Amino acid sequence: MGARSVVTMTATAIEAIDLVKTFGDLTAVDHVSFTVPEGTVLGLLGPNGAGKTTAVRMMTTLSPPTSGTARVAGYDVRTHPDQVRASMGLTGQAATVDELLTGRENLRMIADLYGLPRPRVRRVADDLLERFSLADAATKVVKEYSGGMRRRLDLAASLIATPPVLFLDEPTTGLDPRSRQELWEVLRNLVEQGTTLLLTTQYLEEADHLADRIIVIDHGTVIADGTPLQLKDASGAARIVLTVSNADDLSAAESLLRGLIPEVRVDPANRQITGSAEGLDAITRIAAGVQNLGIEIDDLGLKRPSLDDVFLNLTGHRAEPQLAATEESA
Ligand SMILES: Nc1ncnc2c1ncn2[C@@H]1O[C@H](COP(=O)(O)OP(=O)(O)OP(=O)(O)O)[C@@H](O)[C@H]1O
Ligand SMILES: [Mg+2]
Repeated sequence: MGARSVVTMTATAIEAIDLVKTFGDLTAVDHVSFTVPEGTVLGLLGPNGAGKTTAVRMMTTLSPPTSGTARVAGYDVRTHPDQVRASMGLTGQAATVDELLTGRENLRMIADLYGLPRPRVRRVADDLLERFSLADAATKVVKEYSGGMRRRLDLAASLIATPPVLFLDEPTTGLDPRSRQELWEVLRNLVEQGTTLLLTTQYLEEADHLADRIIVIDHGTVIADGTPLQLKDASGAARIVLTVSNADDLSAAESLLRGLIPEVRVDPANRQITGSAEGLDAITRIAAGVQNLGIEIDDLGLKRPSLDDVFLNLTGHRAEPQLAATEESA
């Protein structure tokens, strides 16, 4: 019983089972299925209007599926919504904190609602204010907070009950880079302590940093599914990049690479020659070749496709968050 037997099995924390949501003629979520093992992070990645929020709303009991269902901590959202809600925390795209209360009052109120004992209410609220760099703004009413401060407070609020499963809908949209990094750190710590995380994001970098597994959705449909590395690999071979020190050596280096690897391209402006990397031994042979020819080089390396490349490859468009979406939480 208890913890000892639990560690031997990988339980499923979140399960989407053929989820569908239609709004009139529009299918916002189109037969989406996946499972998220306990203590792992799933990144649901997609551009504006992909269906991320709609999927999260179904999984968190806020919106009934048109068909299909979801399970959270083993409870079905259709048949056991109360148990689902008791097992999860949610930070939505729109803030849920009270504008007229201060940051500290908001957190204490929520901790109170969860029935935490009084001394603990104080400690938890102050801890979270500290962790989210809001200690200085603790006594300010939220109405006077910036967008980033509100978002941090909102996240802090969702962590009060330390739920085992946490849904975060675009947690860092609108945050400055430093706040984003801080938040990633907080989230990584939570996961280390066993929290299961499902986060939606339009930032490839975020999914790459945090997620064990990424599901890419576009127009409600899953278009890719894998680890960050798998997605990068699926997007084509890595490329070898050779940078020569002197432009004069470009053509000799080009002939060398053409003899060793396919898809060779020359970029004279950067004194670079690239080609498809078929196995790491190609790099060794190129290194030996340039040495034999007496070509001086600045750099020789392997470049994997970025998640940006992956997304472009899959959807035909870049996954840049549109400006309008950046401060939409109002
Ligand atoms: N209540 C609703 N009624 C009608 N259409 C809706 C409703 N909610 C969402 N939609 C539509 O469903 C599609 C998916 O929207 P959703 O909000 O899930 O996307 P998203 O991936 O969260 O986008 P964003 O990154 O902008 O938050 C969009 O075309 C949206 O206009
Ligand atoms: Mg959304």
